[in-house]
Amino acid sequence: MEPTAGVKTVETFPLSDRVNRISVSPTMAVLQAAEQLKSKGVDVVDFGPGEPDFPTPEHIKRAAVKALEENRTKYTPTPGIAPLRQAICDWHAAQLGSSYQPAECIVSAGGKQAIFNAVCSLVNSGDEVVIAAPYWVSYPDIVKYAGGRPVIVETRAEDDFIMRAADVEKALTARTRMVIADSPCNPTGAVIPPEEFEKLFSLCRRKGVWLLSDECYSHFVYGKAKPFSVASLPGNKDRLMIIGSCSKTYAMTGWRVGYALAPQQLVAAMNKLQSQSTSNVTTMAQYAALEALRGPMDSVAAMLAEYARRRERIVAGLRAIPGVTCTAPQGAFYVFPNISAHLNAAMPNDTAVARLLLERENVAVVPGEAFGAPGYLRISYAASMERIEEGLRRFGRFFARAA
Ligand SMILES: Cc1ncc(COP(=O)(O)O)c(C=O)c1O
Repeated sequence: MEPTAGVKTVETFPLSDRVNRISVSPTMAVLQAAEQLKSKGVDVVDFGPGEPDFPTPEHIKRAAVKALEENRTKYTPTPGIAPLRQAICDWHAAQLGSSYQPAECIVSAGGKQAIFNAVCSLVNSGDEVVIAAPYWVSYPDIVKYAGGRPVIVETRAEDDFIMRAADVEKALTARTRMVIADSPCNPTGAVIPPEEFEKLFSLCRRKGVWLLSDECYSHFVYGKAKPFSVASLPGNKDRLMIIGSCSKTYAMTGWRVGYALAPQQLVAAMNKLQSQSTSNVTTMAQYAALEALRGPMDSVAAMLAEYARRRERIVAGLRAIPGVTCTAPQGAFYVFPNISAHLNAAMPNDTAVARLLLERENVAVVPGEAFGAPGYLRISYAASMERIEEGLRRFGRFFARAA
């Protein structure tokens, strides 16, 4: 928690080693600073949020209201109501070509809890987990919490930040327990092509290492890329786990509904952990998710079309700023420009750039350092076209002054 204004934080007692190993998500710190300015009436262009700017579609909201009216307000089985687990398996099979049974599915409080429970169920003290940088901020901390050691494999802007099996292979040791693949990736928007996923999957199988595939942005892909799941590939899936979520696909971040698809033994372990911590996901949110997965998907197509328009504009706008380079993201709703040419004594790193951008131009972005990528900024284009135009004007002014 951020310190409350006027309240002294005095450390009077020791906290557990587990909790001391991790820190508050750095993306939250930016959101908080931007919120503070907004509450004072400042016109902030907020490129911080990692969530859709669209409302949850009406038919999904109505399903939750109906669930409430029908008094569906009690506990459900810990891994989720049976029709939802079935709907997840059916949706995943129809959309992404997998074949899972409900016993291989658990509904969790967002993809984040599913990742947390999976890592805590598999990783022992000292085990290594391979993560590609730039990475989603939570992976290393979740691994550390579980007692594991994150092993970071760098990806390259020149290679569109794609996680390559050949690089992963070099990072494997006798202690490697798991490889995490994030495609489409937050923060870079990188999409691992199916043929690279095949190599990654076969490498993990050969080495007996778990592959955790985070598909939370699966349906936001551009150009030639199509929604893809490694679970659609042939072969033994006894070391594969898929993480999915309603959060981004259906603009449902606050509802907290995600899931894992994995071998039954792992799902049972995750269920045990969930049963002793949070229990089931909020009951009416589960009914809303059921409607999301069983109902029409027009809203997803409409959001994708709008993101695609914004992506074109923001990539072109950033590339037009001298000293800023920017790969074209193939998925998700982030751009990840390199601003290192603008670093100097007064502005020595991307964290300073993000701070000054907020101070001078009231533009909120997340510094690349938060994602293990110094010299970059993460800009979310889950913002209206009008805000994007205004933000680009402010970026232009800021970097012209800084040059
Ligand atoms: C790559 C990635 N995975 C997982 C999540 C978790 O999302 P949720 O817990 O809302 O499903 C996020 C959220 O930002 C994300 O960016």
